[in-house]
Amino acid sequence: MNREFRQTVIAGNWKMNMLASEVNAFSERLGTLVPGFRDWCGVVVCAASVLLPAAVKAFESIGVGVGAQNMNQHESGAYTGEVSAGQLADIGVGYAIIGHSERRELYSETDATVNQKVLATLKSPLRPIVCVGESLSQREIGVTGDIVAMQIKMALHGVAAEEVRKVIIAYEPIWAIGTGKTATPEDAQEVCRAVRNILASLYSDEIAKVITIQYGGSMNEKNALELLAQPDIDGGLIGGASLRPESFAAIINAANQ
Ligand code: 13P
Repeated sequence: MNREFRQTVIAGNWKMNMLASEVNAFSERLGTLVPGFRDWCGVVVCAASVLLPAAVKAFESIGVGVGAQNMNQHESGAYTGEVSAGQLADIGVGYAIIGHSERRELYSETDATVNQKVLATLKSPLRPIVCVGESLSQREIGVTGDIVAMQIKMALHGVAAEEVRKVIIAYEPIWAIGTGKTATPEDAQEVCRAVRNILASLYSDEIAKVITIQYGGSMNEKNALELLAQPDIDGGLIGGASLRPESFAAIINAANQ
């Protein structure tokens, strides 16, 4: 982390877990475990669409932002089952995860649709959390840097310099998601540094310096401190460990070390 230049953001991705009836108790417990986190980092919980109204209401009082896990790239229209950036912002949602590897793999999202969604968030009040990362075979072949560079270039195509500061990048190696296998802090740092270099080449050093880059993939209360101590890792996107207030709070507290 480097708080001098950029915001630390710890975001939970609840995926398809939790019930609306559980949100209040989670928020109350989190609020008691980390009462002062507003001072040192942004905290966000990304919940399933159906939970978002309850989450906005519950988390507002403890200063935690709420994010969607996906959204449609169109403003409105005949897209049955979809939700727009405008609809999310209208109920108080502030963030949207874009291009999570589970959506790329399971729902055929491409770099082109990721780009359209990023552009749609930037026309709205939402901040996109754009996910990039390589598969195990890509890492083994040695093309991690190429894959991540292409994903970022595609995702940010047409994004102007004055808008890109709103973007959060999450580096999530696919082989580390939900597997208990975390990238070593050195490996995660190396890719996050490479991400910053790509941002510098697309925009400028000054802009690259202020963009928040998160690591995601089996981050938990045990490994968070070491990962967050890396100079180019400005936060986390946390799946499993964000489902319990105790482990999520421990990661937030690690961001304060
Ligand atoms: P886990 O923390 O469960 O590995 O999930 C990471 C992730 O996919 C967050 O978006």
